Amino acid sequence: RAPVAILISGRGSNMAALLRAAEAPDCPWRVVLVGANDPDAAGLETARAAGVPTWAHSHKGLNRADYDALVDAAVRAAGAEWIALAGYMRLLSPGFVSAWAGRIVNIHPSLLPLHKGLDTHARAIEAGDVEAGCSVHIVTAELDDGPVIAQARVPVLPGDTPETLAARVLVEEHRLYPKALTELVTR
Ligand code: GAR
Repeated sequence: RAPVAILISGRGSNMAALLRAAEAPDCPWRVVLVGANDPDAAGLETARAAGVPTWAHSHKGLNRADYDALVDAAVRAAGAEWIALAGYMRLLSPGFVSAWAGRIVNIHPSLLPLHKGLDTHARAIEAGDVEAGCSVHIVTAELDDGPVIAQARVPVLPGDTPETLAARVLVEEHRLYPKALTELVTR
């Protein structure tokens, strides 16, 4: 089973969905580490409760390359061959991305290439989009860029707020991410 490290910054609901999926006997990947750039990230507790090794180190006071070198050492020490970003709200340094080229995957709450960056749901509503959704993509040095592996779509409904739309998309994120990771590691 392909060893995967998951990186988070907060709640970790996508991480939890990946941990649940990894329990299936036929899942072709396993989670060897959950890492966070915030030692107080709520998802760390979820991972510990599930018996998954965790690593946390604040990025504060370190430049991007030096911080990413710590992440690199931690994920390699855990034996990871793939990295899944799950609400990891940090740009990765070009050196880190090239060292892991094609082996870092991210989930983004929009139908890429639409709405890269933050506040995706507010921007989808503002733009009058009739559909929203989420995308799993290979990470490149450009923000929320790189080949899309899978997408899921939901309607934008009259009266939606960023919060109601985010909740509808999040349900799909939790379904999509495990499936896309399976597709990627079995390619
Ligand atoms: C998710 O909606 C994820 O798609 C988004 O942050 C949320 C994290 O929630 N990621 C990004 O916006 C990355 N650019 P979670 O911590 O509960 O998985």
